[in-house]
Amino acid sequence: MDDAPIVFDGVSKRFGALTVLDNVSLTFPKGKTTAVIGPSGTGKSVLLKHIVGLLHPDSGSVRVLGVDMARARPDAIYATRKRLGMLFQDGALFDSLCVGDNVAFPLMQHRRDLSQRQQRERVEEVLEMVELPGLYDRATSALSGGQRKRVGLARAIVNEPEIVLFDEPNSGLDPMTSDAIDALIHTMKARLGITFVVISHDIVGTINVADHIAMLYQGKLIAHGTTAEVVRMEHPILRRFLGRNLILPEADDPSPPHLPGVP
Ligand SMILES: Nc1ncnc2c1ncn2[C@@H]1O[C@H](COP(=O)(O)OP(=O)(O)O)[C@@H](O)[C@H]1O
Ligand SMILES: [Mg+2]
Repeated sequence: MDDAPIVFDGVSKRFGALTVLDNVSLTFPKGKTTAVIGPSGTGKSVLLKHIVGLLHPDSGSVRVLGVDMARARPDAIYATRKRLGMLFQDGALFDSLCVGDNVAFPLMQHRRDLSQRQQRERVEEVLEMVELPGLYDRATSALSGGQRKRVGLARAIVNEPEIVLFDEPNSGLDPMTSDAIDALIHTMKARLGITFVVISHDIVGTINVADHIAMLYQGKLIAHGTTAEVVRMEHPILRRFLGRNLILPEADDPSPPHLPGVP
């Protein structure tokens, strides 16, 4: 898939004696949501940082929208980053700024062509999309955990990115808020045609939002395919990771996996 927006080709990354990514080759298809799953400490966030160009591979390459994020000229890397949105694990909001100014941050950096008024209008539009209408002037410190995630999500999409990266969108949220965030991701993908990368160790929510699943285990890609394919794969580590929370359909049953007690 030459036109895939993100292509990992034989990527290895070590920190000292620790091999964190071990010859990972993986493409992320356009307009789809790919979940990268695996237990904690297995290299998921490190993989994400390669997409942004915050980390560089020791060998192999990472191409994002056609740009080699380790070897391209700084201006090309900067131009590519403008086309990415990122939701960090903890939301990474500035408590000293109000909600709207947090969301406006990427516009202030990358869209100086917009007037302040236009920026504000755009921010109000995305706050509505994440179901926080009218909260522009609210103090960020007054938000609940779920609201902080939504604000982070609004900031990730405010500059109309082609790719949005989420690091653990559900971590620290109660199940209902977590489901609401998943539903929001789903709606956005349908509405905006964005390529999503969702990093998660929470398999249940992931299965509901992902079109494709890639599983990392100790730095190796041990499974990759459509969600329907991956949930039926026989790999023992994958099975152990998936099986804890899910009831899996029989091999010839086309229904999706589901939670115990939920049809
Ligand atoms: N900048 C760094 N320097 C050294 N070790 C790191 C660095 N970043 C991550 N690691 C190590 O790499 C491993 C994978 O980390 P990470 O990708 O954050 O895991 P996770 O799958 O939980 O997101 C961990 O053992 C972590 O301690
Ligand atoms: Mg992580």
